[in-house]
Formats: sequence, C-alpha cells, structure tokens
Amino acid sequence: MDQFRNRLDILREKGRYRALKQGEGVDLTSNDYLGFRNHPALRAEAVEAVESGVGLGSGGSRLLRGNHEAHESLENFAAQFFGYERALYFATGFQANYALFTTLPTRHDAVLFDSLVHASVRDGIHAGQAKGVKIPHNDVNACEDAIKRLRGEVQQIYIAVESLYSMDGDFAPLAAFQELARQYGATLIVDEAHATGVSGEAGRGCASALPRDNLIVLHACGKALGGAGGLVCASAEIIDILVNTARPFIFSTAPPPLQAHLAQKALELCASEEGAVRRNSLSERCEQAQQFFGGAGSHIVPIIFGDDQRTVEIAEALQKKGFDIRAIRPPTVPEGTARLRLSLSANLDKGMLDRFFGHLAPHFQDRAA
Ligand SMILES: Cc1ncc(COP(=O)(O)O)c(C=O)c1O
Repeated sequence: MDQFRNRLDILREKGRYRALKQGEGVDLTSNDYLGFRNHPALRAEAVEAVESGVGLGSGGSRLLRGNHEAHESLENFAAQFFGYERALYFATGFQANYALFTTLPTRHDAVLFDSLVHASVRDGIHAGQAKGVKIPHNDVNACEDAIKRLRGEVQQIYIAVESLYSMDGDFAPLAAFQELARQYGATLIVDEAHATGVSGEAGRGCASALPRDNLIVLHACGKALGGAGGLVCASAEIIDILVNTARPFIFSTAPPPLQAHLAQKALELCASEEGAVRRNSLSERCEQAQQFFGGAGSHIVPIIFGDDQRTVEIAEALQKKGFDIRAIRPPTVPEGTARLRLSLSANLDKGMLDRFFGHLAPHFQDRAA
C-alpha cells in the first residue's frame, strides 16, 4: 500500500490532491448551462416514462437484448435535429469519443488533434492504431503544414477539434478547418460537447451550418441537455462501422432506455420556445461576464492564476462566500495554467453574478499575465 500512499503524498505536495465533494452554494461550476438538469418539464417526463414502462436498465449490449425503442427513437430524432444521416447513442460522451478514435482511424491513418482537445479524444487516439499528431491550439496553418508532411505517408487524415473548448471557453475556427479538410480529402471530427443545446441555430451546435460531406460530430447529452450520454452524428456508413466494430459499443451494456428517453425529451425542449428563452438568458449572462473579463464571450470563462495552490486557496475563499466554483489544475489543464473555470447558466441572475465579481475582484492581482 506504500506505493499508493506515496503517490497520494506527491499529489498533496504539488497542490493537486483532489477529493470528491458535493455541490454547495451558487452553481458556477456545473455544465448545466440551460438549467435543464432539474427542469420541471423533464422531471415530469421522467415520472411519466417510468409509469408507462420505459426501461430503467437496458439488459445488455445494443447488439443483443439491450436495444430498445427509446434508443432508436432518440437516434432518429437526433439525426434529424442535427442534420445527419444517422446518429448513435453512447452511455457517455467519453465512451463515444473513445469509440470513434479507436475505431475509425486505422494503422495506415493519422489523426491531427488540437493541443487542448478533451482527454477522451486523446485517450482514444492513444489507444487506437493511427499516428497521433498534436497541433498548436486553433492553428489552421500548423494543421496544414502537418497534413503536407504526412501526405503520401498515410492513407486517411482525420482532424480532431472541439467547437467550444471546455476549459478555455474559446471557439475553434471550424469553417477554416473544414475547408482545409476538404482541400486535402481529410475528415473533420468536431466535439461539440459544450456547444450542444447552446450554440448554433436552436442549439444545434457550432458546426451546424457546415457542409456534412467530410464531417463527424459528437453531441453531449450530459451538459446543457442536463442528462447523460453522447451522440455521434455522421453518415450511415460510419455509424454502421461503429455498430459493427467499435469495441466500447459492442462490449458494453447499453445505456438505460430511460436515459435515452430523457435525452430525447431534452432535445425537444431545446428546440422549443422554452429552449430559446433559456438561451437568451444565458447569452445575457455571457455578455455581462464578457464586459468584466473580456474574452470570447462564451458561457465558459477561464480565470487563470497559474499557481496550483494559490488557485485552490482562491476557490476555497469564494466557496466560503457561498459560490461553488472549483480550481482546475493539471493534468486537466496545461502545467502553469491552474484556473477557476467560471461556468455560466441560464439559471443565474444578474445580481448574483455581480456579487460574485465583487468577491473575486480582490484576488485579481494574483492572475497570471
Ligand atoms: C469536450 C468534452 N468532450 C467529451 C466529454 C465527455 O463527455 P461525458 O461527460 O458525457 O462523458 C467532455 C466532458 O467532460 C468534454 O468536456
């Protein structure tokens, strides 16, 4: 056991030890951007679904007894809503990314991935067989240079980016990446996890206006949609390849039908007038925060202090004032960029956010340059 104790001691010494803690106080940390997680309409849908017999568990893999009407209905709805031939539902976004990157690129291929892309994408690339090449954040020119170097050496090139970066709150230049991908016959894979339900027309995501021919997207159901799961949206052939060969899909119990049913209801809510009202409230909070911090104006605001321990102390001081905001440290973010990640929600009112700014202001001089 000493080896584990030593490893934990090292984490403590570095100010990187983490313990599980339940949320208390004003929520400035969750990904519940639209306030759907406890939305009364979705709670009522859950009760009705349970009473009408929607399954609490799936009973097996989708390819065996675990395939249910709720999964297929969600996938059909999502494919139509996001504008793709087909969609495939996974229990989590992590599993969906892992399945994509361990399955689609082969050992003859390469995946160029943004340096800030999510751990699930990186882990999928790492576990897969293709050559992984990191490109500087949002740098389309560097991506093109890498493609030129790799052409001839590999068969297929994939480019992996997030549309809205989860820890930095900035947007990818998606149209430029897609144009590049089209020019070189590459495939663009966009993780929309933090944009799903919020960005794009009716919350269809940042990539919703792009042509679909060389595009695959991941939409998350566990963030603005308030539930759980990940939806891969792509051509019929790509979805068929995943169904037939993606190990995380085949060798895993399918998500509960109830979870799939609620994800569909959340998408329907997102497309309704109520979704538009919530997106409006959220964008008011985004403007308020942008006036204070500048930046991209999205619902994710990084407040970078750099030093791990100092960031933890500031988070704790704010928590004592009643605000649930957390210190994000390496390895979640790069070394020397420990930060508070302010996450805005449609549920937050203007006065409360102003009060938070008031409590944050005395710590401003500690921010990294
Ligand atoms: C960009 C991004 N992609 C994928 C995921 C994984 O999604 P899930 O939480 O549904 O597993 C996350 C979650 O943290 C994320 O931030």
